[in-house]
Amino acid sequence: MIPKELIRFKEVGKPITVLTAWDSISASLVEAAGADVVLVGDSLAMVVLGHQTTLPVTLEQMLHHAKAVGRGFSKPISEQPLVVCDLPFLSYQCGEDKAVEAAGTLLKNSCTAAVKIEGGESEIIKVIKRLIKMGIPVMGHLGLTPQSVHQLGYTQQAEDKISQQRILEQAIELEKAGCFSIVLEHIPSTLCGLIKNNLKIPIIGIGAGEDCDGQVRVTADLLGLSEKQPPFSKALIPGKRICIEALKAWVDQQQHLATNPTTESSQQESDY
Ligand code: KIV
Repeated sequence: MIPKELIRFKEVGKPITVLTAWDSISASLVEAAGADVVLVGDSLAMVVLGHQTTLPVTLEQMLHHAKAVGRGFSKPISEQPLVVCDLPFLSYQCGEDKAVEAAGTLLKNSCTAAVKIEGGESEIIKVIKRLIKMGIPVMGHLGLTPQSVHQLGYTQQAEDKISQQRILEQAIELEKAGCFSIVLEHIPSTLCGLIKNNLKIPIIGIGAGEDCDGQVRVTADLLGLSEKQPPFSKALIPGKRICIEALKAWVDQQQHLATNPTTESSQQESDY
């Protein structure tokens, strides 16, 4: 699937599912789950690399993880999810040439088919237009844009009429610039619905209510593995607890076997 085919999903009312992946194991889970799009999100800075924000992750690290994601797929290429990779902080804010080089590096060396960029200011629109002119599809990202955490915080955005109007206008500009879809993060659901109804390209929400063309989630949040669970993304299972209990049972069993060497070794592991 090429990125602009997602616009067809919106036209026919097919909800779009987007899940993050950061390595071959997470990619294989997300592919098997049937997600339409895999996002190699810069949230991997926190989820995988232990940073407090997305700011420290580098282009080299994003590429390293995008390559691992590609190696995790097992279906034929035509059946694999579409891969979108985040352009990390400072890889596109310093101008169009740098952005083309960064995005091109991801497309040239990994399974990445499109990049995601945060913001809707005029400088960002210029970058997006240049990328698209160079044949690189772009997904926009408005609302809570984590690369601007020091300006916005992690709180809900667009709470007043002026900032709501600004986000609506920016979304329209992103569509005009040629983005094939936009992520709207942590904004009021009424604003999300309004933008969805005014745009032809799909609106993918996270913490933006149900009135979207699709939803995106950080896979580690859904699996209950994240250190900090965002208030708008509920865990489906207590993954961390389940994993710790399983590992602890194994550790305890090894310790028990060491002190009771006659115990049947065939009992050590289950028959998965
Ligand atoms: O980096 C990421 O995982 C994201 C999603 C939260 C949309 O940008």
